[in-house]
Amino acid sequence: MNSKAVAVMASGRGTNLKVILESVTKGECPVDVRLVISDKGDAEALTIAREAGVPYVAHVDPKKFSGREQFDAECAELLDRHSCQWIVLAGYMRILSSSFVRRFRGRIINIHPSLLPSFVGAKAVEDALEYGVKVSGCTVHLVDEVLDGGPILAQSVVTVFDDDTRDSLHTRIQIEEYKLYPATLARMANEGFDIEGRQVIWKK
Ligand code: GRF
Repeated sequence: MNSKAVAVMASGRGTNLKVILESVTKGECPVDVRLVISDKGDAEALTIAREAGVPYVAHVDPKKFSGREQFDAECAELLDRHSCQWIVLAGYMRILSSSFVRRFRGRIINIHPSLLPSFVGAKAVEDALEYGVKVSGCTVHLVDEVLDGGPILAQSVVTVFDDDTRDSLHTRIQIEEYKLYPATLARMANEGFDIEGRQVIWKK
C-alpha cells in the first residue's frame, strides 16, 4: 500500500477531517495527515487535529496578509515544507487563487454537498431544496480554476424528502460524506487514476 502525505485545509466544524483521521487510524485509508491548516482561529477542525495528534496544526490568519495571493503563498510554503502530496479541502470556505491551483494542479481534492455540476457555491444545500430536486448528494472532485468545477472522483446520492429543511438534508448528506471522502482517498491511494478530459479513469 502506498501511503500519501496529505494536508487538510478546513474552516469549520471539521467533521470530515475527523472521519478521515478515524479511517486512517483504523487502517482503512492509507494517507498520512501530517498538516492541518485553518483560516479560522476558532475552527473546531484545529481542536480535532490537535487532539488526534496531527504533527503540524496551523492557523493561518487572512488578516495578516495583504490579499488572497499572499495568503495562499504562505499556505503553499507550509505544504511544501511538509512535503504534502495531496491537499484535502474539508469545509474550507476560501476560494483558492489561480496561482495556488496551478501550482498544485491535480493534487487538490474537495468535497461538495450536492451532485455536481448542479448547485455550485456555498449555498448548495439550500439551492437544491429551493429548486425542488428529489435527489441530491455529495461529490468528491479535483479542484481546478472553476468554482466546484474540477473532474469528479466520486458521488453519493441522497433522497430529498418533502419536509426536508436545510439542516435535515445537510445532515443526511454529511452521513454520506463521511463514507465517501475517506473511501475515495483510499481508492486514490490504492488504485491511482488518470484524467482524460473531464473523466477520472481508475487504474484498477
Ligand atoms: C461539508 O458539507 C462539505 O461538503 C462542505 O462543507 C461541509 C464541511 O463540513 N464543503 P465539516 O466542517 O467537515 O463538518
